[in-house]
Amino acid sequence: MDDELDRAANVLDNATQVVIFSGAGVSAESGVPTFRASDGLWEGHHIEDVATPDGFERDPDLVWAFYNARRDNVRSVKPNPGHFAIAELEKLVGRVTVATQNVDGLHLVAGSTTVLELHGSLRETRCLGCGVIRNRGLEVLGPKPLCPNCNGQLRPNIVWFRESLPRKTWTAAEDSVTACDVLIVVGTSAVVYPAAGLISLAKSAGATVVEVNLTPTNASGYTDIGLYGPSGMMLPKVVERLRQLKSSE
Ligand code: OAD
Repeated sequence: MDDELDRAANVLDNATQVVIFSGAGVSAESGVPTFRASDGLWEGHHIEDVATPDGFERDPDLVWAFYNARRDNVRSVKPNPGHFAIAELEKLVGRVTVATQNVDGLHLVAGSTTVLELHGSLRETRCLGCGVIRNRGLEVLGPKPLCPNCNGQLRPNIVWFRESLPRKTWTAAEDSVTACDVLIVVGTSAVVYPAAGLISLAKSAGATVVEVNLTPTNASGYTDIGLYGPSGMMLPKVVERLRQLKSSE
């Protein structure tokens, strides 16, 4: 493992552009549950019921109860050493972009400045009437919140299954992985597309791919360097080694 950590620090030392592609695992050590538990449910719910436009149409109360519970969870959690190590990378590498599938906002709280939230944000609402997207922070929204503008029905500004990713955010993610020297894939099972397609795109554009995960995943076939262990432990180790390399130059 020491060798792999050194290899990761070395490729980062020679990189000018780095992209972090993150998933639920990076927030697991903060106490945010990951998605793919062995029972196939999301905290007791079928994905179809709480993360599709049809589910919302059928039962908006249930969907809001689910997302209000997740907002509540995020109110009580903090970034972990993995998030902080990613933010710290900005001091050591020319350009760092975080393309995250997470909706918990913890990369931003940790201090990362360029964060592409591919699947939206738990903090945001979108009005089905006037279309306005608002950052409501983590304020308590109640069981079926209405738009302060037009009194229309609000939905969480989350990308659900069968929906498209926000176009500008997705284009920015594609551009950044195409241009990067190193892609760090952290805490994702890499099974949800199009987001997971960023990995093969980076690889085919010549990036070195580093995977940080508890176990090998669908991303592992593209991986040049595998760091298998908790991201809250692995990422600070890599960043510490990189800091040592930079200070000895
Ligand atoms: P998953 O729940 O599919 O995968 C979590 C990954 O994190 C797994 O590969 C775990 O092995 C890994 N993991 C868990 N704890 C870890 C730790 N401490 N350190 C490192 N790795 C750890 O979550 P995602 O891949 O993020 O989409 O799921 C992708 C998308 O599926 C989500 O964004 C969500 C869901 O559908 C939407 O909500 C649209």
